[in-house]
Amino acid sequence: MKYLRQLKPVQLKNKICLLRVDFNISAKDAAPVGGQGSASGWEIGEKEAFRIWAVLPTIKFLIKNKAKVVILSHRGRPKTQNYADYTQTNADEFLRQSASSRRESAFSPRESAFSLKPFARILSRLLKKSVHFIDFNIGKSGTSDVSKLMLILRTSDVLNIKNSPSASIFLLENLRFFPEEEKNDQDFAKSLASFGDIFINDAFAVSHRENASVSAITRFLPSYAGLLLEKEIKNLNSVMSGFEKPLVIILGGAKVSDKIGLINNFLGKTKYFLIGGAMANTFFAGQGLPVGDSLYEPKAFPFVHNLRTSDVLRLILPIDLVIHQRKILDIGPETIKKYAEIIKKTKTIIWNGPMGMSEDKRFVQGTKGIAQAVLQNKKAKIVIGGGETVASLTTLMSADYKRITADTYPRKSAKNQRESATLWVSTGGGAMLEYLAGKKLPGLKALDNADMRIQCQ
Ligand code: 3PG
Ligand code: MG
Repeated sequence: MKYLRQLKPVQLKNKICLLRVDFNISAKDAAPVGGQGSASGWEIGEKEAFRIWAVLPTIKFLIKNKAKVVILSHRGRPKTQNYADYTQTNADEFLRQSASSRRESAFSPRESAFSLKPFARILSRLLKKSVHFIDFNIGKSGTSDVSKLMLILRTSDVLNIKNSPSASIFLLENLRFFPEEEKNDQDFAKSLASFGDIFINDAFAVSHRENASVSAITRFLPSYAGLLLEKEIKNLNSVMSGFEKPLVIILGGAKVSDKIGLINNFLGKTKYFLIGGAMANTFFAGQGLPVGDSLYEPKAFPFVHNLRTSDVLRLILPIDLVIHQRKILDIGPETIKKYAEIIKKTKTIIWNGPMGMSEDKRFVQGTKGIAQAVLQNKKAKIVIGGGETVASLTTLMSADYKRITADTYPRKSAKNQRESATLWVSTGGGAMLEYLAGKKLPGLKALDNADMRIQCQ
């Protein structure tokens, strides 16, 4: 894999760099300031904003080296399978909304959920530099003809990019408006690649998806790992191999099935898995214990049943629970105490998933208690990941959230900042779980293959 950091200024100067990032930030977290129609524009909620802060160093690096930056991302899951409906049946509607979206105050809810347009304003404010938003060249004739959509950009926009002064920044609309993106379509990737000189993947969080702007695009351009991707890999590798024992893995959230790979990969190396959230219910139900109306996952029972006794002893389940209307919604105080004692003594910690329904204030204590215990362990190497886990930290303890994400994003707010070597807040959710499960992520494999192709030439 080749790294952006290793490029010399002369290799970047005036080059058009297609920079894939992950701005998959939910609508509720990118809301208009002061309500619809406000002149002050768009703001991003603290919860997920670190995904933006995390790529600012890369954008700044490119600008400093006088490259031109074209930012690519997806946002949400627009129904790309029905793209024909989107463009044909609803062509007029789409065009009308598209036009109105140029006036930010008139954003339709549908667009605000999927469009990347608000991020041009947000980025521009953070970078103190204008960021030009580019919409796609679609809908002119209401066509659903994919070959026409392949043009992707208007000629005028392509010329604007090509003729722009160095250090210009552009942001393209959500690539998932094209079904070809998620199909890893070669032609789509090729036409995307056609207006750039260099491709940079700085989107670790979507690197587990075989998408055109993550994977196929690397066939057509010299491709590099961005600064954030490089840090993600280094930090996650440091808990994959050569970590200091004992290792404790804290797992919560809803699904066991999402975490089976990680559990299996770490079974032999982990002192304890501390289980909370709805995950614990699946273990209880799998053992035949009553869980009332709680959420659990029967499809993960075979995994629970097939665990060896020695492994079961490592999987620590809650000893008391917070129950509300026949549902288990948080771990109880004794469990928090027990888990905190274990966390205190450990040298390496991986944490993914809240301990209860932490979005409801009544059921945050478990997650809060665990977060405090984790952050109080100043000697351990800590990796925290998963959208919900990081989000829960923001609501629970915003000062700590700022402090702990301070390494990932470049706001130098906090005193007592921890060494980057000891704490890593990953931007990845599913991607982090798959990486820690030992899978080779398609986006990373693509970077490796691109490198090998060049070496073989
Ligand atoms: C994420 O937020 O996990 C990534 O952006 C991937 O999004 P996806 O699950 O919709 O593919
Ligand atoms: Mg996800």
